[in-house]
Amino acid sequence: MAEIGGALINSKAQQFSAEVISNKRVGAYNHMVFAVNELAHHCRPGNFVAVLVGGASSSMVLRRAFAIYRASLRSDGVGLLELVVAANGNGSKWLAAQLPGSFVDLIAPLGTAFGIPTEPVNALLVGGGYGSAPLFALAEILKGRGCRVDMVLGASVAGKIYAPLEGKRSVNSLTITTEDASAGISGRVSDVLPDLIREHKVDVIYSCGPMAMLEAITKISQSHEILHQCSVEESMACGIGVCMTCVLPVEGDDGITRMTRSCIEGPVMDGNKVLWGHSREIPEGVWGR
Ligand SMILES: Cc1cc2nc3c(=O)[nH]c(=O)nc-3n(C[C@H](O)[C@H](O)[C@H](O)COP(=O)(O)OP(=O)(O)OC[C@H]3O[C@@H](n4cnc5c(N)ncnc54)[C@H](O)[C@@H]3O)c2cc1C
Ligand code: FES
Repeated sequence: MAEIGGALINSKAQQFSAEVISNKRVGAYNHMVFAVNELAHHCRPGNFVAVLVGGASSSMVLRRAFAIYRASLRSDGVGLLELVVAANGNGSKWLAAQLPGSFVDLIAPLGTAFGIPTEPVNALLVGGGYGSAPLFALAEILKGRGCRVDMVLGASVAGKIYAPLEGKRSVNSLTITTEDASAGISGRVSDVLPDLIREHKVDVIYSCGPMAMLEAITKISQSHEILHQCSVEESMACGIGVCMTCVLPVEGDDGITRMTRSCIEGPVMDGNKVLWGHSREIPEGVWGR
């Protein structure tokens, strides 16, 4: 396993030229499937891919991070890697424009994965926008371990909810929230969490989405004294632990808070240990300041 500054890069990571097998528009997103090799075996919910965008001679030198939506093996042995892409900036627009038959350079799997309990627990999965991407594969694994799995997906508008039919089948209940009331309950995911936590006797929250949402969920998980594993979406320039753009203040097991690289010690972190609201500064009391 490669070690950089004390932290470990995902030992299974490979650079790979992957063929686009399909690319379909689903609501506000592109659902893309890539043919890969045996690396599909090693991808776990929470891991991400660093994609080289713009082609070989592109001026976009920084790779872009995308959560792995699903990884599987086709009957002929070809590995499949699926992503959900929001085409917002130049890099993601380039990726979403790649047609079947084209090749994309990617490094995967990167980062940490969601921890899976050894005993059946009641899990609440919370996704914001494309943050639902890694949660469906996670739901299947948790169900396979005998867990109760409830899910909440939220977005500003209905079109930004990513909830494919097959995903809905892997959860006991699905609650949708939208800020403009165009689907489900009007409001934010954090509005419905306290009732769901009580109703389903939730033991652990798994979340993925914008940082403000993760911070709001942490306040709720702390007040209910339950575990909160979240996948953070800090800007990642290199994705492999070298550049320090992705650091967040996180309290370690020894009680000391350190600036922690979310690309290799995350993206999945203990939400209750993150000092939220300080992603662009080193707060007082952090080790080394
Ligand atoms: C772990 C993780 C998982 C993600 N999963 C998904 C997903 O499933 N689907 C999805 O659509 N998006 C996902 N994203 C967001 C996605 O990576 C960004 O939207 C993407 O980088 C946008 O690229 P762009 O060129 O389209 O946007 P632009 O805004 O044009 O460019 C973003 C570029 O700027 C760089 N950058 C931004 N801020 C800084 C900074 N402070 N310092 C240095 N460089 C910076 C980024 O590294 C990137 O190269 C994820 C992000 C992370 C970190
Ligand atoms: S993105 Fe470069 S160190 Fe994390």
